[in-house]
Amino acid sequence: MTNFLKVSIFSILMVGAFWGYSNFGIPTIKPAPPPVEEKLDLGAMTMDQFIALGGKIYNGKGTCTLCHNSMGRAPMLDTIGAKAEEHMKDARYKGTAKTVEEYIHEAMVKPSAYVVSGFGKAGTNDTESPMPDVTGGGIGLNEAELAAVIAYLQDSGGAEVTVAIPAMPAAGEEAPKAEEAAPLKTAEEVIAKYTCGMCHKILDQTGALGPDLTKIGAKQSKEYLRQAVLDPDAVIAKGFAGGMMPKTYGEQLKAQELELLVNYMAGLK
Ligand code: HEC
Ligand code: HEC
Repeated sequence: MTNFLKVSIFSILMVGAFWGYSNFGIPTIKPAPPPVEEKLDLGAMTMDQFIALGGKIYNGKGTCTLCHNSMGRAPMLDTIGAKAEEHMKDARYKGTAKTVEEYIHEAMVKPSAYVVSGFGKAGTNDTESPMPDVTGGGIGLNEAELAAVIAYLQDSGGAEVTVAIPAMPAAGEEAPKAEEAAPLKTAEEVIAKYTCGMCHKILDQTGALGPDLTKIGAKQSKEYLRQAVLDPDAVIAKGFAGGMMPKTYGEQLKAQELELLVNYMAGLK
């Protein structure tokens, strides 16, 4: 009961707060910082957590290590920082990247922009890469996941981490500010905007870093669900690590959005 009370007071306090600014903001759409900026900053996902997320995707959902491993099927990426610089200057380079960040992004979505010599498809004289577009069908990484993988590869590949933590997966890059200010109207929109599916199985999304939420309403009360979103570390779901789920939702979600989300999850049985 005390937790419920705390949570209620907390949400009331937050009703008037801007959700917009956070470390998750894509820089180009970042609205002017609200007056309580320092406070909002505190709970944001840190770059270290974002890099760790990238590592999990790299080793898991991204299937990267199926090929990028010591068996020699694909080049190792532990010096990709220097390699990227080198390859962008190579006469065989056909891409448009100017920075290491852009190079790694391009390597994942248009692998044939540069084919590391000796690794091309057989018979193509290193003009065609055997690597799939990792945003495509089988793997299906979204922009947020790509960004996390880039952060991980920059960190582990000897480059400066330049990538920004994005707010939403693959969603339109130019969401107008007016739309951001108005509360969302459905739980589906809230889930998409706040990237729950990057880590959870929910709706059509299949994130696996956090618990499957497709039947969560059968097990947990609304109070529990509300707390799980506002204060993720209050109770750590069995079998999962704390500290991974962003602690910024309490500041970002408008009260109505939180209720949409909680009611939706409570109905998943
Ligand atoms: C089916 C095998 C395969 C998978 C899966 C795969 N790659 Fe690759 N990748 C390759 C091969 C082979 C190359 C070398 C040919 C080339 O340059 O495209 C390569 C090249 C790259 C390069 C460019 C290296 C350089 O020195 O220029 C990057 C970066 C990269 N992969 C990242 C990834 C990431 C990240 C993933 C997972 C999201 C991934 N790859 C998944 C096979 C794979
Ligand atoms: C970066 C990954 C990540 C994101 C994004 C994320 N979560 Fe989580 N979530 C987790 C992890 C890991 C856990 C398990 C550890 C814990 O309980 O804190 C968890 C736990 C939960 C739980 C408790 C589940 C249980 O079985 O007790 C709920 C409910 C939940 N998340 C809802 C959400 C919602 C709703 C969103 C989007 C607004 C979201 N999560 C976004 C990683 C994430």
